[in-house]
Amino acid sequence: MTEIGKSIERAVELLLAEETVAIPTETVYGLAGLAESKVAAGRIFEAKNRPFFDPLITHFHSFRAIEEFVEGIMPEHRLLAEAFMPGPLTLLVKKPDIIPDLVTAGTDMLAVRVPAHPITAELLKKLGRPLAAPSANPFGYISPTRPQHVLAQLGGKIPYILDGGPSKVGIESTIVSVEDGVCIIYRYGGLDIEDIRKVLPNHTFITAKHAAKTLPGTLAKHYSPNRPLVLAPSRIGLEEMGPKHPEALIIVFKTPIPNFDLTRQRVLSSEGSLAEAASNLFATLHEADAMEGVELIIAEPAPGEGIGLAINDRLQRAAAKGKE
Ligand code: TXA
Ligand code: MG
Repeated sequence: MTEIGKSIERAVELLLAEETVAIPTETVYGLAGLAESKVAAGRIFEAKNRPFFDPLITHFHSFRAIEEFVEGIMPEHRLLAEAFMPGPLTLLVKKPDIIPDLVTAGTDMLAVRVPAHPITAELLKKLGRPLAAPSANPFGYISPTRPQHVLAQLGGKIPYILDGGPSKVGIESTIVSVEDGVCIIYRYGGLDIEDIRKVLPNHTFITAKHAAKTLPGTLAKHYSPNRPLVLAPSRIGLEEMGPKHPEALIIVFKTPIPNFDLTRQRVLSSEGSLAEAASNLFATLHEADAMEGVELIIAEPAPGEGIGLAINDRLQRAAAKGKE
């Protein structure tokens, strides 16, 4: 019922018929539908079992296409777009009337981004219309970074998965908004906040928590595997914890711990690269979740800088499952 293929024409045909299609992006796979269509948006929410209070990100072929679609684009948006689009950056801009309220969960801000993936770029160009697309996973579960992850999670619920290979960045986009000299961070993601700071050196950076705006993608319990996950407090904590849990699969950042079965350890980046670790994170969690004889996942935190902040954010949320 759900087909995996490489036909952009097939994807265009389905999308124009207001169906949903899973699309590859450099961050994670998205479940796309025409952003202007209430029917398509409804199908996205239904397939994902997503609550209506959680808004969708809308994808454009280029920043120019965003400028044509949205009013009130600010100089700061242009600077950020010049530096990071296409790429793993999502901006919150003024919602145009043509976008159904369902897409923005009733708020007056629209989340926009230009994905850096050649197949999806071509798809967006051919369509000539923007695509609303949250990550292509059931609500609250780990995001997919391979077509097979989408098939395993949404198979039977969507007609087509456009195969663009593994997602290179592997972690969702960084979401920010800018207003009056302030840059509000809504979600840590594949773009390092320090790089954004370089483009807006005079802005004050705050997280959405401090801006008193709480959002669903920011729910504590999110991005979770089905199996329980424990985030070790530190390397030493991990080495103490590991041997007490032979039933666990251990995910380390760079080096396996010495006192635990090596076949039950996964390394995110043997070179200690944060980018590589991010690109392997979700695939490793998917593997751990499907592996026989694993009852617990124990993860080591990544270094708390750059994209490591996004990795640790996702691990903390995965660990929060069942705690609320
Ligand atoms: O990398 C990504 O961003 C991927 C790919 C597919 O583009 N998309 C993605 O979407 O991760 P997802 O499932 O995280 O859902 C969109 C999230 C929401 O949960 C919310 O946190 C934020 O984006 N968002 C969307 N619209 C928003 C709005 N109007 N105001 C505030 N946050 C918004
Ligand atoms: Mg998501």
